Amino acid sequence: MKTVRTVAALRAAVQQWREARSSVALVPTMGALHAAHAALVDDARTRADHVVASIFVNPRQFGDDEDLAEYPRTEEADLRQLREGGVELVFAPPVDEMYPDGAATSVVVTGPAEGLCGAARPGHFVGVATVVTKLFLQCLPDVAVFGEKDYQQLKVIERMARDLDIPVEVVGVPTVREVDGLACSSRNGYLDPDERASAPALYRELQTAARRITDGSDVLAAVTDASQAILRAGFQEVEYVELRRADTLDPALVRKGTPARLLAAAQLGTTRLIDNVGLIF
Ligand code: PAJ
Repeated sequence: MKTVRTVAALRAAVQQWREARSSVALVPTMGALHAAHAALVDDARTRADHVVASIFVNPRQFGDDEDLAEYPRTEEADLRQLREGGVELVFAPPVDEMYPDGAATSVVVTGPAEGLCGAARPGHFVGVATVVTKLFLQCLPDVAVFGEKDYQQLKVIERMARDLDIPVEVVGVPTVREVDGLACSSRNGYLDPDERASAPALYRELQTAARRITDGSDVLAAVTDASQAILRAGFQEVEYVELRRADTLDPALVRKGTPARLLAAAQLGTTRLIDNVGLIF
């Protein structure tokens, strides 16, 4: 496995594979890798001849009051995990390689980026769409693999690639969970033991609400009850629990009999957790 830190070196390495008519899959990450990232790499390996992973803690997707400085950086362990997962090339650029002095271009997605986490984290999806556009154009993969845990992010990236005619197939991988249901996340390490014990309630209550909605319960009653149950479980604040259309995230177009997604974000101590489940409305 080779690690490169410049766009030029990334391009040169991928170019060799392209000349051999081999396909390339990209797995973008911010490092602090865990079991879910390994699952994305496993999935990527089945879709292409070569797998490239990126490790870049993207400052543009963090708000001023967010955890950029504290975000875990564990590059040595990350590289070990990627090598064991069969990744052949890692792109781990410094910030000034991605955003040289004077960088003045952003990618703004509306539609799926509106509301949900887009409302609570202004600028977040601009930062995500900008860095992922750059990674796509730097690497030019045939396929790029993302997790459904960040479902809104997945939909924003699908929309962005389609709208900008970037010829990359965007693939979503189901959420990887701990045995008690908590979605794996680099931020779970911030939870103290009591918070960690409360955390699985987010997924549990989403599942309960999804089952009720599928069985014909009123959506508003189901999401209100879910919010209250999440608070009772020890969360301090529920930012949203919302039902959206699964394909576009359009809130107005959730129709009976179509795939829908129930998404939530909630604050547990100082940690913000998100999760989502699929259902047929
Ligand atoms: P990061 O949080 O490191 O996540 C990298 C990828 O792993 C994303 O596609 C994310 O959805 C996926 N992932 C994280 N936890 C998961 C879980 N429990 N199950 C399934 N997939 C999971 O997401 C980002 O980085 C960044 O925003 C990035 C796309 C790299 C752009 O900077």
